[in-house]
Amino acid sequence: MFGTGFLGTSAPFYMDFITVYFALLPVLMFLSILLAVKKQYEKHFLSQLILFAVTLVVVVVFEVGVRVSDGFIEFMQNAHVSYSFMITFLVVHVSIALVSVILWSALLYGAIKSYKLENKGVSVSHKKVAKLVFLGISVASYMGVGVYYLLFLY
Ligand code: HEM
Repeated sequence: MFGTGFLGTSAPFYMDFITVYFALLPVLMFLSILLAVKKQYEKHFLSQLILFAVTLVVVVVFEVGVRVSDGFIEFMQNAHVSYSFMITFLVVHVSIALVSVILWSALLYGAIKSYKLENKGVSVSHKKVAKLVFLGISVASYMGVGVYYLLFLY
């Protein structure tokens, strides 16, 4: 996990793995939404559950990785970007990610409750909130990829 990664930078394996996952997440979210557009709601539901669960696992892997290694402080030693810029970028990134994940879980909870448990459709706000979640997750994911770029490629 802490050995050399596969992207050819000085980043450890877990950072490469997480970065590739977050580069793909918006695409996977888009494909899952496409299933809803095509009215394949069962697949839409399942893919959302899987994406949410896998994302939580990946975030835990990241948290453990950063804490077990010296994480940010160590990565910053070789970076060519200022400390204050990096901290600001990270705070914005983490804030957007946090709000998006909270909204995502609320959307999942509401949709599972009304669609699966109560056999009604989803709420009228489902589409609207979903678009916001998609936007938030996409921005947070690509800012995450940006963090990797600034720390290991810039
Ligand atoms: C796992 C729980 C979920 C269930 C059971 C579910 C179910 C549905 C259903 C039944 C529709 C059709 C609504 C309608 O046409 O009135 C729908 C649409 C949609 N869902 Fe979900 N959904 C879930 C989670 C999510 C999540 C987490 C997102 C995005 C982050 C999302 C994004 C969308 C979008 C964008 C549409 C509109 C598609 C269109 O334009 O036709 N859904 N969903």
